[in-house]
Amino acid sequence: MEAPVEKAIYTEDVPEDREDLVRELLRMQGGAVMFVGDVDTGKSTSLIYVANRLMEEGRSVAIVDSDVGQKGILPPATVSLAVPDEPFSSLSELKCEACYFIGTTSPGQYMGEMAVGTWRLTSRGRKLADFVLLDTTGFVYGRGAEMKRLKVELIRPDVAVFLEREDELEHLKSMVGHLTRTVELRVSENAREHSREDRRDVRMRKWRRYFAASGELVLRDVTVTGTSLFHGRRLGAAERELLERIYGWIVFEGWRDPKGCYHVVKAGKPFAPLHRGCLHAVDVEKLSNLLVGLIDRDGLCLSVGILKVPGLGGGALQVLTPLGDEEVSKVTEVRLGRIRVTEEGEEIELLRRDEL
Ligand SMILES: Nc1ncnc2c1ncn2[C@@H]1O[C@H](COP(=O)(O)OP(=O)(O)OP(=O)(O)O)[C@@H](O)[C@H]1O
Ligand SMILES: [Mg+2]
Repeated sequence: MEAPVEKAIYTEDVPEDREDLVRELLRMQGGAVMFVGDVDTGKSTSLIYVANRLMEEGRSVAIVDSDVGQKGILPPATVSLAVPDEPFSSLSELKCEACYFIGTTSPGQYMGEMAVGTWRLTSRGRKLADFVLLDTTGFVYGRGAEMKRLKVELIRPDVAVFLEREDELEHLKSMVGHLTRTVELRVSENAREHSREDRRDVRMRKWRRYFAASGELVLRDVTVTGTSLFHGRRLGAAERELLERIYGWIVFEGWRDPKGCYHVVKAGKPFAPLHRGCLHAVDVEKLSNLLVGLIDRDGLCLSVGILKVPGLGGGALQVLTPLGDEEVSKVTEVRLGRIRVTEEGEEIELLRRDEL
């Protein structure tokens, strides 16, 4: 039997304090509730329970899934919004209403995108439902704590729910306690840790599932963002040949930006930095199987895709994606992510933000 695609599923076997929280929320008109906790403390399981209970009591609920490492509401590597209209047992059953492209499963270098995406979708969720429940990543220490603080400052949830075994989230509560009402929930005795391999396996099944009904799409006349490539004046043959002679590369394409710096896509020898400050060289293989976001005029992500042929030479981009034909016309921008992945769900490589 194939292992389930989700690790968090609906259960009624939860500690009593979840019902206290539900009662407290029912006394409110509505509001945003952010679930915070270390990895595998039951954030998603508790959120699913509370969402179902609120719906049972006749309240409408929107869910913002910002846990890019362990997404429930697909697509992966995005922040996503869903508005369930009936009881549900796992987040992956829910249809994505809108999503914001992050482009990686490891959001440490993407605080800006995470904040913008979570804020935009929470604002939309507030208009669509009484309650917005926010699922978050398990990064709660160091930079992760800063990320949570920024999210709370920006989103101003009405309630922040902290899943704790003892008082390990004191540092966070003291950072945000004056900005939101804090509620502690006990970690269930049934909460189970998952190894890195388990987590990768769960992600693999989700990638696979998302790309299962994909086809290749050819995109022309789109703006490419999320990179310093594809901008500025395209290099001519003579300039490319000069770079090839100096560095011993094959240069597929290059651009000169307004400051006079060169950005090239090349193959061959590793970069020997003669003029590093002004030359940014990307190996062509970094663009192959790169995750991209297909973005609409509003900056929201219609779908994610896998870049197969990078459209160098000003040509068309070839992308594998499940996006339907009628939606394709809405794509005005392709945003480069920082994970290389296959449609089979094999995560080849995470790239640093500054690599592209
Ligand atoms: N009340 C419960 N009863 C049974 N199992 C539970 C309960 N709470 C959590 N678990 C199990 O513990 C594991 C972790 O729970 P969950 O995925 O909800 O945590 P999380 O904090 O959302 O994790 P992540 O940081 O990966 O997002 C899962 O396998 C889940 O099924
Ligand atoms: Mg979770």
